[in-house]
Amino acid sequence: MKDEAFRIEENRKLTEKVNYIRLKGNTAAIDRPGQFVSLSLPGLFLRRPFSVCERDEDGIALLIEQAGEGTSRLQALRPGAELSVLTGLGNGFTGELSGDNPLLIGGGTGLSPLFWLARELTAQGKKPIVMMGFRTAADVFFEEEFCALGICPLLFTEDGSAGRKGLVTEALRDLDFSMFYACGPEGMLRAVCEATEAPGELAFDVRMGCGFGACMGCSKPTVSGMKRVCKDGPVFRKEEILWDA
Ligand SMILES: Cc1cc2nc3c(=O)[nH]c(=O)nc-3n(C[C@H](O)[C@H](O)[C@H](O)COP(=O)(O)OP(=O)(O)OC[C@H]3O[C@@H](n4cnc5c(N)ncnc54)[C@H](O)[C@@H]3O)c2cc1C
Ligand code: FES
Repeated sequence: MKDEAFRIEENRKLTEKVNYIRLKGNTAAIDRPGQFVSLSLPGLFLRRPFSVCERDEDGIALLIEQAGEGTSRLQALRPGAELSVLTGLGNGFTGELSGDNPLLIGGGTGLSPLFWLARELTAQGKKPIVMMGFRTAADVFFEEEFCALGICPLLFTEDGSAGRKGLVTEALRDLDFSMFYACGPEGMLRAVCEATEAPGELAFDVRMGCGFGACMGCSKPTVSGMKRVCKDGPVFRKEEILWDA
């Protein structure tokens, strides 16, 4: 884990609630899709964790959904603002296990780590399928960005105002894929696991305290005892999770 100074280069709205934020800084400790960073925001005691959406030698990009005080303050920062960022957090997805045609399933900003994963998998010659789920058409973002990678996503909205009407899980059984990777609300992750026999990895977005393994505040029951999402995750194999414990 490293505490680095990052500077905001770009901060623009994708939808009413979600911003794309590009930060310049040292990315040496960030090496795997599914990892996250933890930002210290002016005036707030606890850091806030966010998945890395894009990563290169010069910096990272995040997709930030307005949830409360921290995310509102972050969305309001202008280019040039400097932030303390903990990097090198989290285990990340095991892209090596993907097989030739993995399925990537994202709900809302759960798409963020999957975008980086999709880019890595296509660079390796794999042919991922992407399913993206939103509440309504006005919430949809990153469809064109995935298409630019050569993977036009299967889009679902709960009210049918864009793409297919319904939940991503409803179409899972019609698809042929080698393994799945999912990130989004916990209810979606569970429904995905229950809808397919295929192996998969889940990235959890839980409420965190310290964010680096000290407080146990983010623990989840697994087949091998309580595991910390921040330190042992945020990615877990689907067989590890005990949903009803
Ligand atoms: C590993 C990880 C990766 C994440 N990646 C992203 C990402 O890429 N983009 C993104 O927008 N968000 C992401 N989150 C969620 C993000 O960290 C929270 O939305 C953020 O910390 C909320 O801060 P806030 O100060 O705005 O809200 P607060 O004022 O702290 O909380 C506002 C409301 O949101 C709820 N809340 C806070 N944190 C979470 C959470 N983690 N999950 C669900 N509800 C929460 C609170 O209970 C409260 O109701 C991620 C979380 C984790 C743990
Ligand atoms: S947030 Fe403190 S141990 Fe995970």
